[in-house]
Amino acid sequence: MLINEQLKQRRAKAMLGGGEKRIESQHAKGKLTARERLELLLDPGSFEEFDMFIKHRSTDFGMEKTHFPGDGVVTGWGTINGRKTFVFAQDFTVFGGSLSETHAKKINKVQKMAMKYGAPIIGLADSGGARIQEGVTSLAGYTDVFQNNILASGVVPQISVIMGPSAGGAVYSPALTDFIFMVRDSSYMFLTGPGVLKTVTNEVVTAEELGGAKTHTSKSGVADRAFDNDMEAMAEVRRLFDFLPLNNREGVPTRPSFDLEPRINKSLDTLVPDNPNLPYNMHELIETVADEGDFYEIKSDYAKNILCGFIRIEGRTVGVVANQPMVLAGCLDSDASRKAARHIRFCDAFEIPILTFVDVPGFLPGVGQEHNGVINHGAKLLYAYGEATVPKVTVITRKAFGGAYCVMSSKHLRGDINYAWPSAQIAVMGAKGAVEILHRKDLDNPEKIAAHTADYEETFLSPFRAAERGYIDEVIRPQGTRNRIARAFEMLKDKQLESPWKKHGNLPL
Ligand code: HXC
Repeated sequence: MLINEQLKQRRAKAMLGGGEKRIESQHAKGKLTARERLELLLDPGSFEEFDMFIKHRSTDFGMEKTHFPGDGVVTGWGTINGRKTFVFAQDFTVFGGSLSETHAKKINKVQKMAMKYGAPIIGLADSGGARIQEGVTSLAGYTDVFQNNILASGVVPQISVIMGPSAGGAVYSPALTDFIFMVRDSSYMFLTGPGVLKTVTNEVVTAEELGGAKTHTSKSGVADRAFDNDMEAMAEVRRLFDFLPLNNREGVPTRPSFDLEPRINKSLDTLVPDNPNLPYNMHELIETVADEGDFYEIKSDYAKNILCGFIRIEGRTVGVVANQPMVLAGCLDSDASRKAARHIRFCDAFEIPILTFVDVPGFLPGVGQEHNGVINHGAKLLYAYGEATVPKVTVITRKAFGGAYCVMSSKHLRGDINYAWPSAQIAVMGAKGAVEILHRKDLDNPEKIAAHTADYEETFLSPFRAAERGYIDEVIRPQGTRNRIARAFEMLKDKQLESPWKKHGNLPL
């Protein structure tokens, strides 16, 4: 009985983290506490906590007199819609969520369990970084966390949610994970803060401008999505979680689909405008083919000329990559290439089939692009598609020109099923550019140029040249796209494809 009472008291103390006052201050900033966040993230009553009573071992700077059970991070496992996940949530009310030796050991424990027991790990970051009083011991702890992030990469999905400060080398743990989410106005990430920048580089910038949610979701591309508050962030992580496999061996989750009937979507027949220079919204195609129109978009505010995310087809998760003609006419550039390559590699690592919609006039021309290494970045996308062994289904809706045709999951990069709509144009380049090169001597004769253009369009700007060669498996009617894709993925379900043995390839980083 006495022991029970002691347990109750110890638990009650641990639940309070850094104490009432600091919890109030956390709430006053519009932030929830670590435990409140976990309550929203996990199924009710499913959280099993570990190491609630752990204490730091530091004796410098009078630290031996200050102890908070749990040492600034809440760890354990629970379920999201019944599926297992490991979690850690840094508790800003305890030493500002700073990472000590023991705090790191708690995170290491759940990281290792996640790998061993085959479930994702979700980290909620809210921390002042390395615990200053512990010096190199806390740096060692951080590095152990990084090492486990690296080992877990491609083994189990890793998700980071930045819900407060994340500064200095500490940002490298989230950066090593698969997805980073941020909360608007209360989270920021940077290597060097505004204070240091002012002294060292004379740059004056606020924390928000330097590393807030808007900056990282739209400019740097470091973060995948941003949410208005902690509650929305937790709800959206749950939504993403439902799309993901638990590990690299179990395959995509399947859930009952209410969208099994063959469907004809007549609206798709008029999606592509008659004028090939007019844009249309690729979102419409993705949402039309997806089960229940549900598209979970990744990096929606970054490199908007390419769309990446997850949908379900007949209940099974599919990764989507699609050119977006509404932005830069759907051209590929450095940022779009990196964004899509990363998404493809995530999908391939976790056996998620890939669906690609192609409408791309080519790589974006420009000195800026060349100087910023578009050759290297474009190669990442090429590499990612060519390396991927998961089922790959591709639909060319309109333009597939030049190098961009090759890159976008073409047959030549081990594409499994490659379809084209009748509106597809597959060629080295568009008619104008081609005619200007081939018929330079006729450039001052508009009639001749018009005739050459018509001839080129007739010969090349259709899907049939590619279909005649077998580079396109079938020219399909837009209205039946969903059914054709669904049947293709069903047929490809048990695909097996080996690549030559290697330790690892040398991705053009
Ligand atoms: C120990 C820390 C701490 C830290 C904050 N605290 N950061 N304790 N180590 N790194 C404590 C504070 O002393 C305070 O304790 C409580 O947390 C809340 O901090 P405040 O400063 O009152 O909060 P706020 O005003 O919201 O500011 C938050 C903050 C600021 C911006 C994070 O605390 C800050 O700048 N901290 C230092 C950040 C930093 O430089 N970290 C090292 C980064 S380098 P009390 O008892 O008053 O509540 C790094 C290297 C990793 O992390 C390398 C890996 C290889």
